[in-house]
Amino acid sequence: MSEFKGSVLVAGAAGRTGKWVVKSLQAHNISFRLFVRSAEKAVRLFGPEIIDRLTIGSVEQPAEIRAAVQNTQALISAIGGNVTDPSAPPPSAIDRDGIIRLATLAKEEGVKQFILISSLSVTKPDHPLNKYGKVLSMKLEAENEVRRLYSEPGFSYTILRPGGLLDGAPLQHNLLFDTGDKLTTGVIQRSDVAEVAVLSLFTPEAHNLTFELIEQDEVSLASLAPFFSQIHS
Ligand SMILES: NC(=O)c1ccc[n+]([C@@H]2O[C@H](COP(=O)([O-])OP(=O)(O)OC[C@H]3O[C@@H](n4cnc5c(N)ncnc54)[C@H](OP(=O)(O)O)[C@@H]3O)[C@@H](O)[C@H]2O)c1
Repeated sequence: MSEFKGSVLVAGAAGRTGKWVVKSLQAHNISFRLFVRSAEKAVRLFGPEIIDRLTIGSVEQPAEIRAAVQNTQALISAIGGNVTDPSAPPPSAIDRDGIIRLATLAKEEGVKQFILISSLSVTKPDHPLNKYGKVLSMKLEAENEVRRLYSEPGFSYTILRPGGLLDGAPLQHNLLFDTGDKLTTGVIQRSDVAEVAVLSLFTPEAHNLTFELIEQDEVSLASLAPFFSQIHS
């Protein structure tokens, strides 16, 4: 039996973290749909049987967002603009305005729960990564709006702020969760970030919470759920 009742939309599902979110939802037997820019890329990643679960579109297009969020109870966003490609839209258009548009329209269309993958150090304007179109500050503005919209009664948000992302297997490291953007450095596997995002759907301690997450020592784990208790201890 699934631990979450309802359907989850994964925005940015064909990205390097998004594809792990999809795997994690499948492992937890949770119903899902995908919001992706390219059907071809999604089929290449997930196989032809994914086609019925896709809505194709961009967070720049309100009508495409509205189509994607129909009959959705929760949304996990693994979207991020490509800050190193000068031809890509800037962080102000994707990481700020795109996420704010996604969160606003999702709420209007009945989505109750919003889980956003953001970044460590978003509250530090002088961080070197802000050289790239103020990407961290843009993410903070999006976070602020997600918190404002989804902290109303009947709604909930979870904002994950991972350290530098790596591409290894899940459940192979202890994790450190913290709040207040105090961690200055650290890395974490995209697969673990994805699993924590999915656990956040049905873990009450994760609701209406913003937290940082990085990995620690190597170890083989059965679940990442116990790490949520670090924040409230
Ligand atoms: N890289 C790091 O070390 C690091 C550290 C901390 C936090 N983060 C953040 O963590 C998140 C996930 O990172 P990642 O490395 O997994 O990202 P990624 O592989 O670059 O994937 C980003 C996803 O966003 C999608 N996207 C971009 N523009 C879009 C638009 N206009 N409309 C809809 N979707 C759009 C992309 O679509 P396509 O599949 O079509 O390209 C892609 O699926 C991002 O927000 C990133 O900024 C990254």
